[in-house]
Amino acid sequence: MPAIVIVGGQWGDEGKGKVVAHWCQRKRPSIVARAGVGPNAGHTVTIGDKAIGLQLTPSGFVYEGARLLIGPGVLVDPDVLLKEIETLGVGDRLGVDRHCGIIESKHREEDRQSKHLATGIGTTGTGCGPANRDRALRTLRLASDCDVLKPYLADVPLELNESLSQGKRVLVESAQGFGLSLFHGTYPYVTSKDTTAAQAAADVGVGPTQVKEVIVIFKAFPSRVGKGPFPTEMPQETAEGLGIMEYGTVTHRRRRIGHFDFAFAKRSCMLNGATQIALTKVDVLDPRCRDVKEYDQLTDKVVQFIHRVETETGTPVTLISTGPSIDSIIERGDAQTA
Ligand code: IMP
Ligand code: MG
Repeated sequence: MPAIVIVGGQWGDEGKGKVVAHWCQRKRPSIVARAGVGPNAGHTVTIGDKAIGLQLTPSGFVYEGARLLIGPGVLVDPDVLLKEIETLGVGDRLGVDRHCGIIESKHREEDRQSKHLATGIGTTGTGCGPANRDRALRTLRLASDCDVLKPYLADVPLELNESLSQGKRVLVESAQGFGLSLFHGTYPYVTSKDTTAAQAAADVGVGPTQVKEVIVIFKAFPSRVGKGPFPTEMPQETAEGLGIMEYGTVTHRRRRIGHFDFAFAKRSCMLNGATQIALTKVDVLDPRCRDVKEYDQLTDKVVQFIHRVETETGTPVTLISTGPSIDSIIERGDAQTA
């Protein structure tokens, strides 16, 4: 069975946590492997009225049958991870690859004190950029050097590839979004690594021929935190008028909000090799669609928007999220086939 990759299509915060959590409950994968840069991510999973923010643990933790792995390309901050393991009680099924780079306090400090990074770029201050620099310089410590991670060390590429050859289902959960890619995004206002689906597969050690489905997530109203170009950005008052007021999961900074950018979405689908689109927050487009669970109950306004996204990107919209809760989602076409 081939691997499936879920990636962000815009500037992060598209709703990966929610989409991944839903997907895992439905499809019951044997492994969910986290890709992406590191703890700069904040994935939110809402169960009932409880919102859980995750920086390193795969959002697929909600499906208890899944092994949770962190791929070698992902930076690990042991303090952040150990806290999540304790809070979520997932220590018995979580594995950290031996080759994961380790973020130390010096990396966090540099990220927060550097004028260029903190003020110029507007980074998350989680130490990812300085740690990836040290990795490129080959001075960064790895998980295998870190005593507190010893109980969790794993060979993630081996586990994943063995599962795939046994016909088991494997999900690669990426982080950030296409516009933040170091190679394809709005450089220099980007993160410290590529963020496309190909990089996500490389982050966890799965070869490109093993990936069959790439689900790219788009929000109906994209957002951006930190500095950088955002051609469809709207004034904060306009966003408030639409009922949108979002804050970053990690940094609590207020997010900039924009209108959907079809040309950007098309390019994002192209560079990610998208086979499906998950569209989130359509309830912002039309509040009458809030928590709707059937496609035929969506309003014309939302259905027309979905059709336009499909036409302009040439990619089918198979998942439609209508509210924060894990159950507020509609499956369509390919997403329905188990
Ligand atoms: P860094 O990744 O902390 O170096 O931050 C670089 C840029 O990427 C900043 O604009 C951050 O706000 C943004 N960024 C990094 N990770 C995320 C994420 O998971 N969601 C949204 N923005 C992010
Ligand atoms: Mg986020």
